[in-house]
Amino acid sequence: MYLAYFGLDEPPFRITPDTKFLFFTHQYEAAVDSLRYAIQKQMGFAVMTGEVGTGKTTLTRYLLSTLGDEIETALLINPLLSVPELLQTINRDFGIPGRVLSPQRLIQSLNKYLLDLHAKGRTALVVIDEAQNLSVEALEMIRMLSNLETEQHKLLQIVLVGQPELERKLASHALRQFRQRIAVHVVLKPLSLLEIVRYIHHRLVLAGGKEKVYFDPKSYRLIYRLTSGYPRLINLLCDRTLMAAYAADSKIVTPQLLRRARADLRMEAVVPPVWQFWRRFPWGGAFKERSVCR
Ligand SMILES: Nc1ncnc2c1ncn2[C@@H]1O[C@H](COP(=O)(O)OP(=O)(O)OP(=O)(O)O)[C@@H](O)[C@H]1O
Ligand SMILES: [Mg+2]
Repeated sequence: MYLAYFGLDEPPFRITPDTKFLFFTHQYEAAVDSLRYAIQKQMGFAVMTGEVGTGKTTLTRYLLSTLGDEIETALLINPLLSVPELLQTINRDFGIPGRVLSPQRLIQSLNKYLLDLHAKGRTALVVIDEAQNLSVEALEMIRMLSNLETEQHKLLQIVLVGQPELERKLASHALRQFRQRIAVHVVLKPLSLLEIVRYIHHRLVLAGGKEKVYFDPKSYRLIYRLTSGYPRLINLLCDRTLMAAYAADSKIVTPQLLRRARADLRMEAVVPPVWQFWRRFPWGGAFKERSVCR
């Protein structure tokens, strides 16, 4: 592998949501602050959406790691569940005993647990990642859970994290009641050119590659064009390019090596150049999200 060649301690561009490599931009910081605020102020519902590979899971993991002990969390990462299964999973994650499958009984147990927790001055939080996979029935059930409340507070804080399909689902007429209860909605956007430069540098430094791998300045613009600033695509492209650099016995990442990696990854099909052209115009912004990752 290229690690020894470049003198790196570990791969800088893995595609796992590893918070060790967390890179902060203004928008990431603002997103975490808003979500944390909604949870701590017990506002009920918060939603985070963003295109595939924008960093939702990474940021969610980071957010959870920053919450204090007074917050008890249930994290669901595979919400392709029926309504009773969903309730069962939430109760199990909170450590509520019982094996019943009747939604009514499950909600009763959850309510009792939430009241006990509230009496101790603590907060319960349910986070659902990949929430675009929730059925309309499951979303309706989640809305009902948010009705568990005292006179002053929502007993259960809920954060839904998902791809733009979640926004489209929530925009449907059937979920208008749900929509009205969303206190905070943050949308993650891809990185700008300048942020890409900092992102790559940040990951290289953390992987022990400070001043060991050099990116030709012309490379960044090409990375931006090929990935549209989506972190997962940047990682895929940079990892493959380091491999190509190693094969070519070059310590410098050049546009030529990037093109070679792009061909390996068939990235041309991922980001059609016509969209890149279109995005330069202000009215092309609406297509920005949808032009990538298909
Ligand atoms: N802020 C960030 N700092 C460092 N790395 C990041 C950041 N955001 C995303 N990444 C990297 O990008 C890749 C994709 O991130 P992640 O899995 O969090 O995206 P996602 O939005 O949850 O994607 P999906 O829609 O497929 O679930 C991961 O390798 C992750 O490490
Ligand atoms: Mg994810």
